[in-house]
Amino acid sequence: MENSTRVICGIAFHTLERDVMTPLVDCAIAVDSAGTIQSVTTPGDKNHDGILARAEADGTVFPVPEDCYLVPGLVDLHIHAPQWPQLGKALDAPLEDWLLKYTFPLEAKFSDRDYAFEVYDDLVATLLAQGTTTAVYFGSVDLEPNIILAEACLRHGQRAVIGKVAMDDPATCPDYYRDPSASDAIAQTRAFIDAVAALQKGGEPLVHAAITPRFVPSCTDDLLHGLGALAQQTGAHVQTHCAESDWEVAYVRDRLGKTDTEALKDFGLLTDKTILAHSNFVTRSDMSLLAKTGSSIAHCPLSNAYFANAVLPVTRALEHGIKVGLGTDISGGFSPSLFDTARYALTASRCACAGTNPDQLAAERGTNETPLTTTEVFWLATKGGGEAAALPVGAFEKGMQFDAIAVQAGHATSGFRCSDADTMQDIFEKLVLNANAAAIAKVWVAGETIETTSKQGR
Ligand code: GUN
Ligand code: FE
Repeated sequence: MENSTRVICGIAFHTLERDVMTPLVDCAIAVDSAGTIQSVTTPGDKNHDGILARAEADGTVFPVPEDCYLVPGLVDLHIHAPQWPQLGKALDAPLEDWLLKYTFPLEAKFSDRDYAFEVYDDLVATLLAQGTTTAVYFGSVDLEPNIILAEACLRHGQRAVIGKVAMDDPATCPDYYRDPSASDAIAQTRAFIDAVAALQKGGEPLVHAAITPRFVPSCTDDLLHGLGALAQQTGAHVQTHCAESDWEVAYVRDRLGKTDTEALKDFGLLTDKTILAHSNFVTRSDMSLLAKTGSSIAHCPLSNAYFANAVLPVTRALEHGIKVGLGTDISGGFSPSLFDTARYALTASRCACAGTNPDQLAAERGTNETPLTTTEVFWLATKGGGEAAALPVGAFEKGMQFDAIAVQAGHATSGFRCSDADTMQDIFEKLVLNANAAAIAKVWVAGETIETTSKQGR
């Protein structure tokens, strides 16, 4: 089976455009041995019957399980892997205090290899069971645990972008948890890029390394300059936090006399493979800069309710031409589910656009911009995320990788039920707003079926 083309059939939903869902009823998706989609056909298309007949003769037709709907795998653009043990707690402090009080002490513990192995094994398995087929991870400062995370992704079969966190400024980073110098952080980042490449031989790599300055306040100018040069040299992904909170924006303005976005641009860190977490406070001029450099935003609506105290105007960013996807921001966000994150993005957008203060008149209450729709938040979770991560995932199209989940309607714990009265759009919207992890019956990455821990438990 490994080397043959296979054909997955059933009803699929995807969003090629951000506000249009296309149902693919009784489709056949032909996938080659490298996990690349060769064709997507529906009854009536020229080659559809021939593709199915050939695959049936070869025994390589795989119908999705009963009552299942196929959707592209979810793309989580922003996860802090070493914050996994802290999920759902310690959210009682603003960002700058939370980092020092809870988060740096926890991340420092990952220098213990056994601890890193245990936590990362559980994290990767859990996220796959939640339907996250592509995960963009911040690791920690030490090199070794980040390699352990990359190995966990390869072992479980999760597509990933992973960064060794770089942070060297003694003014903001504690002695027990920082790179000893800018040059050391740059050398270790380079070593991590090489180590990730060495773990994988040939073909489209499943795991990519990212240059990862934590955020401007954690890094000296020398480090930011050096990592910018490394980004230009290697063409590797870049990830960092940008304009997340009032404190961060003020800190960067005080230190550098410019916005976060302008600073990152001047350090050479804005490329078309850069993912900026949050970016709530980017100005319209920053937005134009991000569109020009092709850098993307990881919108983290749940975490923003705690640390940003503001809602990213997603539609405004998209209309500027910026690539946008979604992030859980584990553990600044308390849910590991990208479906939950899509729902928070929807509700946050509705609140921001309509406003929330009942003492104000309706016309003065909100931004009066158009809120995100169910279709749009699904697009952000799939195709938008794939584009933002510069990876060939997020929709069922020829040439894309087959990363997918089968979502099952009807059983007691799935949260997702359909009736004969439902149109395809109704079923899709119910799936996006109601389906939970128990509804995820099957997960594929790069055409391979993934064993998820939730399945083993049932
Ligand atoms: N800014 C710098 N580090 C972090 C982090 O770990 N989480 C969030 N949400 N913002 C950050
Ligand atoms: Fe974050």
